[in-house]
Amino acid sequence: MTAKLIKGTEIREEILTEIEQEVKEIKEKHGVVPGLVTILVGENPASISYVTLKIKTAKRLGFKEVQDSRPADISEKELLDLIDKYNKDDSIHGILVQLPLPKHIDEKKVLNAIDPDKDVDGFHPVNVGRLMIGGDEVKFPPCTPAGIQELIVRSGVETKGAEVVVVGRSNIVGKPIAVMMMQKGRGANSTVTVVHTATKDLAYHCKRADILIVAAGVPGLVKPEWIKPGACVIDVGVNRVGEKPSKKDPNKMVPILRGDVDFEAAKEIAGWITPVPGGVGPMTITMLMKNTLMSLKYKLGIA
Ligand code: GUN
Repeated sequence: MTAKLIKGTEIREEILTEIEQEVKEIKEKHGVVPGLVTILVGENPASISYVTLKIKTAKRLGFKEVQDSRPADISEKELLDLIDKYNKDDSIHGILVQLPLPKHIDEKKVLNAIDPDKDVDGFHPVNVGRLMIGGDEVKFPPCTPAGIQELIVRSGVETKGAEVVVVGRSNIVGKPIAVMMMQKGRGANSTVTVVHTATKDLAYHCKRADILIVAAGVPGLVKPEWIKPGACVIDVGVNRVGEKPSKKDPNKMVPILRGDVDFEAAKEIAGWITPVPGGVGPMTITMLMKNTLMSLKYKLGIA
């Protein structure tokens, strides 16, 4: 293997330790802790496991954490009223509605009902606009792109003037990371290309990338010959390609995860690469915690 492995699990620990320390200091000085509510509608197994991990992480950091689980048949009006209640609750600084929502609920309406100053997911149009403007305007960068940027910065990869190619144009990853990498500032200032399903020659663009960020949701899409030798490859794909017995409990089946990049071959060509799992994945919840801490700091005027 020639590439340096970018270990999200280790970088997560670095950042969580920093947050934990800050929470302690703020509690001592101001007598408050960050408050995060996670609203879960229905019983989607993947959503339950994400929310459980979010709550566990918040607890470990000394946050006030509230898990508000509602049945799948909750009405849209009831859900909007619930969000309104947390918008008005001074002890809550971050509101997260776990997606996806049941079909009878308008997701856009729900996300737009969250107070933009408590929107720690960064999905509200006000925060999307702030991200586009950049600089001091940005309050809550969306968590997965913010995590990607931290991985790049903390691995010492040069971004200024770098050719960044983003594969995928989702609202959650592709579009925001492209905007973030082109802004002036730390871990950015890059020349950005976004490629997607209508792009004529994916390989051509990927081969130009000093930093290749892949968020396509297609297992093994990026082939080793698409990678420029020495490039930094960030694989955002988390594709369930089968099941295997758990190492901890062989009677339990766990998903086999595969990224969007052919990791085994790519690691011989890239300069840096993220594994799946253990690369980008652990960063999303970490940045959610950071955003919740930032929300409290904005409120206290100490950000
Ligand atoms: N579902 C999958 N990823 C996310 C996320 O980052 N935020 C929310 N709210 N729901 C999700």
